[in-house]
Amino acid sequence: MINQTQDGLSVVLDLAEGLDGLTAGGIGATGRPMPNFPQPPALTSHGPARIIAMCNQKGGVGKTTSTINLGAALAEYGRRVLLVDFDPQGALSVGLGINPHELDKTVYSLLMDRSTNVRQVIRPTNVKDVELLPANIDLSAAEVQLVGEVAREQVLSRVLRPVLDDYDVVLIDCQPSLGLLTVNALTVAHGVVIPLECEFFALRGVALLVETIEKVKDRLNPGLEIDGILATMFDPRTLHSREVVARVVEAFGDQVFHTVIGRTVKFPDASVAAEPITTYAASHAGAYAYRLLARELIARGDAA
Ligand SMILES: Nc1ncnc2c1ncn2[C@@H]1O[C@H](COP(=O)(O)OP(=O)(O)OP(=O)(O)O)[C@@H](O)[C@H]1O
Ligand SMILES: [Mg+2]
Repeated sequence: MINQTQDGLSVVLDLAEGLDGLTAGGIGATGRPMPNFPQPPALTSHGPARIIAMCNQKGGVGKTTSTINLGAALAEYGRRVLLVDFDPQGALSVGLGINPHELDKTVYSLLMDRSTNVRQVIRPTNVKDVELLPANIDLSAAEVQLVGEVAREQVLSRVLRPVLDDYDVVLIDCQPSLGLLTVNALTVAHGVVIPLECEFFALRGVALLVETIEKVKDRLNPGLEIDGILATMFDPRTLHSREVVARVVEAFGDQVFHTVIGRTVKFPDASVAAEPITTYAASHAGAYAYRLLARELIARGDAA
């Protein structure tokens, strides 16, 4: 349970106790009163998917980790999830136990060759109700090859369209750049989640990202919205982490998720095991944090 006197540390620790113990009104790690995000109602039917781009051109901020773990948490709540690896590094594919170098067909094949069928490229994962559209280093050529295409920003939209009714949520793991691949992700997305690492330069570059999102919204995708800014690698024991979160809230207000993701070695450990933390360490605070994020997204209406 959370009460008014608790600080961010106790809130993060309390998450390990179970989400159903959360009550509204306590002060959360972002310094604002923590709403209650209820257990999401079960879905009686599935699709069409809401598409969310996990996006920040800064490297190593938790995009891939958040894609895997938010996806797994949404699936625990009965949502059908497609994860799209849209980074030539293939970290999302590796993080789900797939060796990207052995892949014959990837998202790159779909972008380049209209005769490839998306359903033949999507693969099951070891996580129930989570499927993957994998990528590998081949995708690095797409940026250049797509430049001459007609409607080059809409290629990913064309690729995903046939399967949107099969899923409730599609999460796109973007590469750390604002190039044409990321613009494709923003063009097909309904929402953007911006993971921000809680460190000193976290906000550097966010203005440029927001400007890019605005341009895509203006010219290509009028429905696009920022679903939220997600503070990651938060260490409640350091004043520094808390100051960074306070500055992010000052700059972005209600766009900042109440849920913050703590810094813990369990995340890299889970990646090595090629599992989401929700199965690797199901009752760890990190697993609860992504479950809470899933609840917050659903409560906000940003996921089914
Ligand atoms: N909350 C966390 N606590 C500790 N380590 C984390 C956390 N989240 C991610 N990491 C680790 O930080 C590193 C970078 O995370 P991740 O790969 O998710 O970032 P990314 O934004 O996808 O990076 P890139 O821009 O290179 O694609 C990884 O080693 C990951 O295991
Ligand atoms: Mg990544």
